[in-house]
Amino acid sequence: MARERVRVLRVGELGPGRLVYVEVDGLPVALANLGGTIHAFSDTCRHEGGPLSAGALIGDTITCPWHGWAYSIRTGKSLVPPVGLRLPVYPVLIEGDELCIEIDWPDL
Ligand code: FES
Repeated sequence: MARERVRVLRVGELGPGRLVYVEVDGLPVALANLGGTIHAFSDTCRHEGGPLSAGALIGDTITCPWHGWAYSIRTGKSLVPPVGLRLPVYPVLIEGDELCIEIDWPDL
């Protein structure tokens, strides 16, 4: 497993309440600014792959636009049955005015 730190946006590009999609070497990632704290999580819903960055963000809950599965953006945990599923979440770091995430890539 190789951990990589990747710059994804400038801090000013993700204001409070915003939700955006980025792609890192083919990996779909959603980023959300929740009251000034940035959260990064997989953009791919665990149900049938819906795009979570196109969903509804209310508080720390993201709801998939396709069939309504909901997840905590803090932990990635599913909030609807089957509870216990998780989305990957990624550590977020701010370096100067750059917003970075850390990804653990599988060894090939
Ligand atoms: S694809 Fe997300 S709820 Fe079905």
